Amino acid sequence: MNKTWPSSVYDSENFRNQGQQLIELMTKHLSDAIQGEQKTINWNLPEDELAFWKEYLKNGNQEDFFKEIIKRTTHVHNPKCTGHQVAAPAPITALTGLVSSIFNNGMAVYEMGMSPNAMERIVCDILGNRLGYTEASRGILTSGGTLANLTALLAARKVKVEHDVWKEGHTKPLAIMVSEEAHYCVDRAAKIMGLGDAGIIKIPVTNDFTMDISQLENHYQEAKSKGIHVFAIVGSAPATATGIYDDLEAIGDFAKKYNLWFHVDGAHGGAAIFSKKYRHLLDGTAQSDSVVIDGHKMLMMPTITTALLFKDGEHSYTTFSQKADYLLIDTDEEDWYNSGKRTFECTKTMMCMHWFILLKIYGEEVFDQNVTDLYDKARDFANLIHKDERFELAVEPMSNILCFRYVEDGLNLEEINILNQKIRQRLLEEGEYYFVQTKLNGMHYLRTTLMNPFTTMEHLSYLMEKIKIEAKNVLKSQAS
Ligand SMILES: Cc1ncc(COP(=O)(O)O)c(C=O)c1O
Repeated sequence: MNKTWPSSVYDSENFRNQGQQLIELMTKHLSDAIQGEQKTINWNLPEDELAFWKEYLKNGNQEDFFKEIIKRTTHVHNPKCTGHQVAAPAPITALTGLVSSIFNNGMAVYEMGMSPNAMERIVCDILGNRLGYTEASRGILTSGGTLANLTALLAARKVKVEHDVWKEGHTKPLAIMVSEEAHYCVDRAAKIMGLGDAGIIKIPVTNDFTMDISQLENHYQEAKSKGIHVFAIVGSAPATATGIYDDLEAIGDFAKKYNLWFHVDGAHGGAAIFSKKYRHLLDGTAQSDSVVIDGHKMLMMPTITTALLFKDGEHSYTTFSQKADYLLIDTDEEDWYNSGKRTFECTKTMMCMHWFILLKIYGEEVFDQNVTDLYDKARDFANLIHKDERFELAVEPMSNILCFRYVEDGLNLEEINILNQKIRQRLLEEGEYYFVQTKLNGMHYLRTTLMNPFTTMEHLSYLMEKIKIEAKNVLKSQAS
């Protein structure tokens, strides 16, 4: 047993020294990364990475810990980082993260999160207002879009299904409707809720990957004829692979016709409510019953913080309640300040501080600017792609997600698929750029998500050149 316990672990001077060194290191990292002159990713095989950290734990130098993290982690602040849908966090939100870690208030009850529970209420009220909801709206912050979508669908079942599944279990088959292009977490939510395969009705998409509204009626009637009660419909805003928004107005009309809960999965693009130029993509959202918006995607926050907004605030209290008189379980007033009653988590981080400080320092305009710039940039990138006969777009971008592929005369579909896969793997291993890939209609596409405000058309045009060079290298190596 260490004789200096607990002071050795809790030494505030140590904290100051380590903290100051770390801030210096992170400041340099940020500044280097934003310049974009270093690699975005130092690619390593999983086995090698595992071996490195095993060895480090035994014999590594403690002082090198954060330096090794910098070497061995993908740099989201590098403008050549165009892969997944995670933000390059605004540096101030790293500081709110630090404060949350030190205070460690668990949020579930008011006393363990007084100021953050109040801030959470303010942030959710602002979001509800932006969405076009009335003052009756309420929201919560939770740990990710996946959990938020599940929470919304649980509330939907509580409100729209007559018998109490929470108490009695399922007594008849239930289902939700969603686009076949929706994020896999919606499917997962349905499975967790015990709806089974028949309980998630996947609506095909049109050629431009938006939910085919003309197919809603026949799918609904087919389910009904089998005795399945459809209680909710989910619109994607946008779908993850393609970045294409569903027609939320049409989905809202359909939901109204059959008294379905209308949920909008805006984990990625719900943030467009702040963009004067692009908020029209969310037209129809005001009719929805619930909406999910991730802060750690388009709103410059670190993982993980998601807002789940309910049009009728009372519904936000139903999700996990045991009784119908949920509002009055412990108090005779609405206890919005005990956030654990409405979230999946018992303990969660003081995540509201990220939202609140960005609003306080920069105002809503900064969200408008970020979303608008990134969506504009995707359209400019699409124009570059159109001008080059070596490239093909899967679909015109509606958001900041672009799927495209390299094409070469004389190759068949499968050969082009393999070529694009090899190009992406080579460029991943080279590490200057980071982008991802997806399959659409059996075709292999390269996929970029433009999340970084420092990415320019020069970076993107150079990426296209690198892809062309790599394509030639692959074809040459295959020929020899
Ligand atoms: C449309 C959509 N919904 C849900 C999710 C899951 O969100 P999270 O990663 O915050 O759990 C994603 C993630 O990419 C998404 O794009």
